[in-house]
Amino acid sequence: MEMDEVIGKILHGYRPACVVMTANELKLFDQIKQPATAKQIAETLNLHREATERLLNSLVAMEIITKKNQTYHLPESAHDYLTSGGSRSLQQWIQLAAEFYPVWGQLSPFIKSGVLIKSVMEMLGSDPHKMKTFTNAMHDKARKATWLIAREIPIGEAKTMLDVGGGPGTYALEWCKLHRHLKATVFDIASVLSVAKNYIEAYGLQGQVDTRPGDFHTDDLGDSRYDLVLMANILHMYDAEMGRALVSKAAKAVKPGGRIIVHGFCTDENQTSPFEDTLFNLNIAMLSEGGRAHPIKEKINWLEGAGISDIRHFRIEAVPTGVITGRRHH
Ligand SMILES: C[S@@+](CC[C@H](N)C(=O)[O-])C[C@H]1O[C@@H](n2cnc3c(N)ncnc32)[C@H](O)[C@@H]1O
Repeated sequence: MEMDEVIGKILHGYRPACVVMTANELKLFDQIKQPATAKQIAETLNLHREATERLLNSLVAMEIITKKNQTYHLPESAHDYLTSGGSRSLQQWIQLAAEFYPVWGQLSPFIKSGVLIKSVMEMLGSDPHKMKTFTNAMHDKARKATWLIAREIPIGEAKTMLDVGGGPGTYALEWCKLHRHLKATVFDIASVLSVAKNYIEAYGLQGQVDTRPGDFHTDDLGDSRYDLVLMANILHMYDAEMGRALVSKAAKAVKPGGRIIVHGFCTDENQTSPFEDTLFNLNIAMLSEGGRAHPIKEKINWLEGAGISDIRHFRIEAVPTGVITGRRHH
C-alpha cells in the first residue's frame, strides 16, 4: 500500500467504531432481530428517520447487518454477540470502548504534559453504574480468553484456585465449570464482588466458587495456600515497582509445585509490538498513574525473582494478550 492509502485508512478508523458504539448505545441491534425499516426503527426508538437510515446503511456497508427491500436485518449468527441477553454478548464491552473514546480525544494534551487524563480506578470507585458496566465488560471479554488459556494450560490436577482481582470471576467460573473438582476464590474489592456474586449464581456454581473481599495492596493473599493463582489484567494498572511487588505476593500464595498464571497486555522488548499491546500501552498511560503494558521479559524477571520456574509464555491472538505461566519450586 502507498503511504497515502495507509494514512487514509488509519484516519478513517474512528468512523466505523463510532457507528458500532452508537448503534449499541441506542439498542438498535435489538430492533433488527426481525427485519424492520428505518422508519419503524426510528419511530420505536424515537430517532430521526433519515439519520437512522444513514446509520443503518453504514452498518450494511460494514457487513454487520443486511438490507433487502428497504428492510434491515441482523443476521442470526450475530444475535448472540450484539443483542441484549445474548450468550456471547459484547454489549458491555462496546459500551466500555465508548466510555474511553473521549479520552483518546485528549491525546495531544496528554503527550504535551504526560499528565493522566482520567483515573480509571477513581472513575469506577465513584460511580457504581460505571463500575458495574466495567465489570460486566470484563466478563464479555474474559469468556473467550478463559477457554483459549484453558486449552493451553493443563490445570486439571489443581484443586484450589485464587483469582486475584478477579472482577466478575469469569476465569474462576469457566475453569470450575470445566474442572468439577476445582474450588476457586475470587478476590476483589467488595463493590466489584457484588457483580461477581450475580455471575456465580447465574452459573449455579455457589458450591465451587466463593468470593473474598480485600485490597491486594494491603491484604495478605495467603502463604502456600493455592494450587493455582491467576492474575489476569491487573499488572498494567501499575508501575514496575508495584508490578514486581504484586507478582511476588501472588507467587507466595502458590503452594510449592503449584502454578501461577499472569495474563494481560505485554509488549516486546522494543515496546513497538504487538500492535494491540503497543496502543494499549499508550491508552493506559492516560488512565492509570504509572500504568504500562510491561514488556514480557520484565514480567518473566518478576516471576523468576519470586521463585517461579518452568516459565512458559504464549499469546492468545483472538483476545489479544500474552500469558506467562510457571511453577513455584520452593
Ligand atoms: C481490568 S480488571 C480485570 C478483571 C479480571 N481479572 C479479568 O481479567 O477479567 C482489574 C480488577 O482489579 C480489581 N482491583 C483493582 N485494584 C484492586 C485492589 N487494590 N484490590 C483488589 N482488587 C483490585 C478491580 O476491581 C478489577 O476488578
